[in-house]
Amino acid sequence: MTMKSIEERHISVLLNELVDSIKIFEDTKNIIVDCTLWMAGHASKMIEKMNAWDIFIWFDADERNLKLATQRLNEVNKDNKVEIILIHSNFVNLKEALAEKWITEITWIYYDLGLSSLHVDEADRWFSFREEGPLDMRFDASTGKPASFITNVYRKDQIVDILRNYWEESQAEAIAKAIINRRKQKPLETTTDLTEAIETVSKHPKVKTRVYQALRIETNHELDYAKQSIEDAISILCSGWYLFVISFHSLEDRLTKQIMKKETRDCICSDLICSCHHKKSIKILTKKPILPTDEEIKQNPRSRSAKARLAVKL
Ligand SMILES: C[S@@+](CC[C@H](N)C(=O)[O-])C[C@H]1O[C@@H](n2cnc3c(N)ncnc32)[C@H](O)[C@@H]1O
Repeated sequence: MTMKSIEERHISVLLNELVDSIKIFEDTKNIIVDCTLWMAGHASKMIEKMNAWDIFIWFDADERNLKLATQRLNEVNKDNKVEIILIHSNFVNLKEALAEKWITEITWIYYDLGLSSLHVDEADRWFSFREEGPLDMRFDASTGKPASFITNVYRKDQIVDILRNYWEESQAEAIAKAIINRRKQKPLETTTDLTEAIETVSKHPKVKTRVYQALRIETNHELDYAKQSIEDAISILCSGWYLFVISFHSLEDRLTKQIMKKETRDCICSDLICSCHHKKSIKILTKKPILPTDEEIKQNPRSRSAKARLAVKL
């Protein structure tokens, strides 16, 4: 059996939906931002559609595939048609990082939140209980604290909160207790340490997956950073231009929906006379989220949890 390359195994989700929804204007310099580049699957198609002299900016916190992704972008960006700006950074730094490049307004921005399935399959930072390795889980290992900081330092009630808030895990209390008991003997430093602690409560793969996901979300501050970044993105979008967010689980989708809903309201306080002076800033173009077609799910079963929402700046 021949082993497929990373490129062949990575399939971008809702690719046509994202690319078809973008309008490239002829009379404006299009400034498009991809906040989650990874293998440049979406990015390559976007660049094909863009005009000469447009600007394409990408972010990614994880630099493991940057070489491959940059190579893919260069292949489609023949004769340097589009100016490409690389920003190896967390997208929570969106506003500051763009300001450093003298960009204060953008015309299109999209997110493909979370991690790629290849991260789970074979990455070296152990996002999954299926592989033995250090308990890290950071997208960017040069900053922040690894997941082992949570298992070895957080109080039991904090671990319970993470498991409940991030995956509504019904066995949160018991699993947190198992982690604390385990670390009394020896700190949890590897995925095996964590998996063994979870397995004293449940051996079900679904439970293990959920605990790993909850720790990963906390380790990378995924929801807080996505909230901050999407709100900042809306503030720097030009009027009449677009925000597209693809999410993979209900927490990300709920967050996107809440931010978009809030930004469609003129007042967000509950005072009798408004004191927040919040002004609506977007129009939601997807009353119901965009979902993958049956055909896409057949070709890529992992796409079945994807949902996308689109909004335009007023
Ligand atoms: C689902 S993959 C994106 C796949 C990409 N759209 C494609 O088609 O190839 C998500 C990427 O977002 C990155 N990522 C996740 N959270 C991030 C954050 N807060 N800041 C920057 N990059 C982030 C991950 O490192 C990963 O490479």
